[in-house]
Amino acid sequence: MEGSMCSLRELVALKRRYKFYLFVDEAHSIGAVGPNGKGPCDYFGVDPRDVDILMGTFTKSFGASGGYITNSQDVITKLRTTNPRYNYGKAPVPAVMAQNIASMKTILANGEGIGGGNTRLKQLLWNSRYLRQGLKRIRYTAYGNEDSPVVPTLLLNPVKMLAFRARCFGGRFLSSSSAILRLRWICLECASALQ
Ligand SMILES: Cc1ncc(COP(=O)(O)O)c(C=O)c1O
Repeated sequence: MEGSMCSLRELVALKRRYKFYLFVDEAHSIGAVGPNGKGPCDYFGVDPRDVDILMGTFTKSFGASGGYITNSQDVITKLRTTNPRYNYGKAPVPAVMAQNIASMKTILANGEGIGGGNTRLKQLLWNSRYLRQGLKRIRYTAYGNEDSPVVPTLLLNPVKMLAFRARCFGGRFLSSSSAILRLRWICLECASALQ
């Protein structure tokens, strides 16, 4: 959420040593981070089977809704049979699932040409680094991992926050509350440096 990434390889090594369960919420990284857009396991070169629970949402990179959780068949069956949300909730709408599948196909398309997943992921990485480094260059406190598309920036002053919101396109595109003294940029692959 703050553009930071855990040291997944080291956590897997610790997990093996101390026998704890590892739950990774990849909501902000799935579809956006790693050479193939497959999240932190892809980024750090970790086998997803070494993470006990992987969880993500389809509301961010996939532009739809819903989410997923992975684990052994036994745990998934237990969740399915005991989770009230699952038992009493509605099934996902087909149009939403179509959007999820289309986005996944686009991200996983390995082509390097226009529209290819790899090209888009590289562009997103470039945009993320460009924005974070650019903000730092003009002395903003932008933090988080260099390669994360989430770029938080500390303003630390409510008046500055209001002024900043007003200057950013008349406040139209920023939803951060002025009570929170940091703003969070979410980089898009389709934005250009000129924007
Ligand atoms: C870290 C994290 N996990 C999970 C979610 C859940 O996302 P949603 O409720 O949009 O599916 C969010 C939402 O922002 C999030 O920040």
